Amino acid sequence: MINIGVLASGRGTNLQAIINAIKENKIEGKISIVISDNKDAYALKRAKENQIKTYYIDFTGFKNREEYDKRIVEYLRKEEVDLVVLAGYMKILSPYFVKAFQHRIINIHPALLPSFPGLHAQRQAIKYGVKISGCTVHFVDEGVDSGPIILQKAVEVDDGDDEESLAKKILQQEHQILVRAIQLISERRLYIQERRVVIKEVDLK
Ligand code: GRF
Repeated sequence: MINIGVLASGRGTNLQAIINAIKENKIEGKISIVISDNKDAYALKRAKENQIKTYYIDFTGFKNREEYDKRIVEYLRKEEVDLVVLAGYMKILSPYFVKAFQHRIINIHPALLPSFPGLHAQRQAIKYGVKISGCTVHFVDEGVDSGPIILQKAVEVDDGDDEESLAKKILQQEHQILVRAIQLISERRLYIQERRVVIKEVDLK
């Protein structure tokens, strides 16, 4: 039973995918807390509708990123969270936060990393003219979208695609691989060698 904390800044469809997977018993666990830096995040509404505890933490009340993250870490620890999922969370974590939950923070990114890290990944992909893009779930380290890769899924970029249509195609895959990654983590099937994430096969014996 994995205890998940989710950080989200926006509409929260990835959060919803996790909520649904838990309801459908695809993930053996619960989300005990959803935290946002945006008081209007639709993700907060989704959480409340599902009786999940929510916090909006206003960044302006803090001296710097680390002080802000200390508050978040405090809330996550209070809930005894095992795994932190960044699901459309728009802030970069401080080294303090990364250390506090070393190898226990994952992020979903809408491109095939290491291509197109950072903001507007789908726009970057369209502009560059790649024929294939996709999404990546990775562990979070101190860089931007640079941690060990857990799963990736490719999506074809068609001639008629624009940023919006590509984002839509990628989003569907995001929901799948994010849920899959959480399943693997909850089944303790991942281990990290250097920066390679290895998935252990299930021992059927
Ligand atoms: C997704 O595209 C995710 O990859 C990126 O932010 C977006 C969040 O979407 N990090 P949602 O809020 O989960 O709908």
